Amino acid sequence: MPSPKTHHDKSAGLFTRALELMPGGVNSPVRAFRGVGGTPLFIRSAVGPTVTDVEGHVYIDYVGSWGPMILGHADAEIVAALAAVAANGTSFGAPNELEIELAEEIVAAVPSIEMVRMVNSGTEAAMSAIRLARGVTGRDKLVKFEGCYHGYADSLLVKAGSGVATLGLPDSPGVPASLAQHTLTVPFNDSAALENLFTEHADIAAVIIEPVVGNMGCVPPEPGFLKFVRELTTKHGALLIFDEVMTGFRLARGGAQQLYNIRPDITCLGKIIGGGLPVGAYGGSREIMNHIAPAGSIYQAGTLSGNPLAMTAGLLTLRRLKDERIYQTLEERSAKLCAGLAQAAAAAGVKTVTNRVGSMWTSFFTDEPVTNWATASKSNRELYGKFFHAMLAEGVYLAPSQFEAGFVSVTHTDAIIDQTLEAAGKAFEVLR
Ligand SMILES: Cc1ncc(COP(=O)(O)O)c(C=O)c1O
Repeated sequence: MPSPKTHHDKSAGLFTRALELMPGGVNSPVRAFRGVGGTPLFIRSAVGPTVTDVEGHVYIDYVGSWGPMILGHADAEIVAALAAVAANGTSFGAPNELEIELAEEIVAAVPSIEMVRMVNSGTEAAMSAIRLARGVTGRDKLVKFEGCYHGYADSLLVKAGSGVATLGLPDSPGVPASLAQHTLTVPFNDSAALENLFTEHADIAAVIIEPVVGNMGCVPPEPGFLKFVRELTTKHGALLIFDEVMTGFRLARGGAQQLYNIRPDITCLGKIIGGGLPVGAYGGSREIMNHIAPAGSIYQAGTLSGNPLAMTAGLLTLRRLKDERIYQTLEERSAKLCAGLAQAAAAAGVKTVTNRVGSMWTSFFTDEPVTNWATASKSNRELYGKFFHAMLAEGVYLAPSQFEAGFVSVTHTDAIIDQTLEAAGKAFEVLR
């Protein structure tokens, strides 16, 4: 194990410059390290399971650009293909064949999707899915779960997870109350609360859910919960939106809907389907998707949507993920990682609860099961911050917030997991 990586002078210098130019010095809040304290690392490059900062320190990376990098960073095949495609033009604003190829892969893989529309981010996907649900049902109200994050569109910044939860922000100023009033929230995994909402409100257009939550840390659905949500929405004529921006092609090729055998009406995708380039998509049955312009009258458009670079990175990623052994390997390595982390914590007398589904996981610094936002938010964030920095010093880059999932990629070999666990053993000792 290399010597502790505790000097961050270059990153600190860049952060000082960035603070003058960008709000909080960053282009996305969680990156600012407010959840763990200290100065964010500026990353110079990344390859396989590692990132290298501007100091030249190499870290084993469990952020994976927040999920897309399931094949690891700078995958040689994808990098070469991107260079070749870029030489032929980076965006046409006109149809291209790669869009069809990626759409075909998605339709073949994701059980509930017959048609898909490409956008440029997960935020756009979720925002557009909600407009579609409202347009199709002619209803306004939306139900979301506390601690779930679906991007930063107005209707979705109510009791949101991820950076909003990390910063402990109230529901965002700038979202009109007249709009926020249409978003109803209930605790995740709470069937009775959801049923009550449907008893009280007749005009619910849709329920949007992260089928396995990543944005309050990893929180799985309790057995039967997703089935209950499916049956209830069907009964009341509301649409069910699975936000699989994080879980799509991550938990299984067909996402959480394949894993749990539930068919949502609309699915949001992002992250992995762009192979590390900016992308999002939403899809569903032909009947529903044909409401989108120009087939139908619900408007949604995008200058860079379906551009050949994003389509290429996504396409190659999805093709590689056709090998089902990949998911088995991810499962085994992630299980080993999480068991090892739990063991290292216990050995040092530190109380943690580790949640995991496939290659998505979080170690919560708490001693009670984490099943929703109320239990996740009881975690000891100060201790998480100490653990985060101790791991960083040992060469492991975790999410700079307790309320985010970690991601294992196919390049996290057994040796990399062993190295991580060795680091964790030392880091937990620091907390003892
Ligand atoms: C479940 C989920 N939905 C939506 C989003 C928003 O995606 P993007 O950051 O690409 O806008 C995220 C981002 O983390 C997410 O995890």
